[in-house]
Amino acid sequence: MKILAIETSCDETSVAIIEDGKKVLSNIVSSQIKIHEKYGGVVPEIASRHHIENILPVFEEALDEAKLSIDDIDYIAVTYTPGLIGALLVGVAFAKAVSYSAGIPLIPVHHLKGHVYSSFIEYDIKLPAISLVVSGGHTILLKINEDYEFTLMGETLDDAAGEVYDKIARLLGLGYPGGPKIDSLSEKGVHDLKIKKPNVKENEFSFSGVKTFVTNYINNEKMKGNIINKENIARSFQDTVITILSEKAVNLCKKEGIKTLTVVGGVSANKALRRKMTEMGEENNIEVFFPGLEYCTDNAAMIGVAAYYELKKKGRDYNYILLDAVASK
Ligand code: KG4
Ligand code: ZN
Repeated sequence: MKILAIETSCDETSVAIIEDGKKVLSNIVSSQIKIHEKYGGVVPEIASRHHIENILPVFEEALDEAKLSIDDIDYIAVTYTPGLIGALLVGVAFAKAVSYSAGIPLIPVHHLKGHVYSSFIEYDIKLPAISLVVSGGHTILLKINEDYEFTLMGETLDDAAGEVYDKIARLLGLGYPGGPKIDSLSEKGVHDLKIKKPNVKENEFSFSGVKTFVTNYINNEKMKGNIINKENIARSFQDTVITILSEKAVNLCKKEGIKTLTVVGGVSANKALRRKMTEMGEENNIEVFFPGLEYCTDNAAMIGVAAYYELKKKGRDYNYILLDAVASK
């Protein structure tokens, strides 16, 4: 079964073709990072306009790379939420048009489900598993049950981890996106700032206190005319965030008696987080899985894989297909 998947929820225009839920026949990602960099973050209006320009060539490239034509495709999958509304609309409108004109059923996919399934591309994940979703918009702990249903176990009460990475990077003048820049800078620094861990319930997160502490520190030092040590700030900030993420995820696995942990979403590309979680996993006899780097940040392959599991769970006849005209196929 071949699924053509479309993802346009933020600043990546991506189209992928997935065979039988595992084999990535193509996964084309056109990133707008270079365009948004100069604004220090994604500008929604500009993102939508670039999706409009990119979607058709990216779609054609995905088919070409897989050496397929649209007639070979069994299902179209598209991210329908959450994301920038104008950006999502481009993908959904395009997906509906292809679905209608080619008579191929359409499967709407929740973006976070895509991230959760990104680790299923390269690994056979044993269920039940705990998943930590850490992206620019979300920080969530959930349980993937044996029947592929998800149970929300906890989430951030305020900022998402990736959002705080981007904010601190901007304050340090490192540019957008901040995660990878702080990640490499912190390797050259030492952890010399005492940042308090937030006082929240066991499966909940809060990063606004960490963000305020680091922001105040930077502003105060600048006001005093001191030269700030960016490497040490990056290291202190990153150590604090990854310790919180790793401890919460591993503690939840221990409490639930679950031996499989997946860490997904843009922040899961973080080198220090990958090291720390792997270490803690080994100490506690928990297998920790991270998607390959190309599947950590936004991509359509994960949306196609999520659609495959939705079909598997709900059956091919489940009526979430949006268009009457194609439901008969
Ligand atoms: O999953 P994603 O591509 O988009 C959302 O769904 O939000 O995640 C983007 C986020 C950004 O905040 C970016 O700074 C962060 O992931 N990120 C990282 C790294 N690479 C990307 N954060 C920490 N370390 C990284 N290496
Ligand atoms: Zn995402």
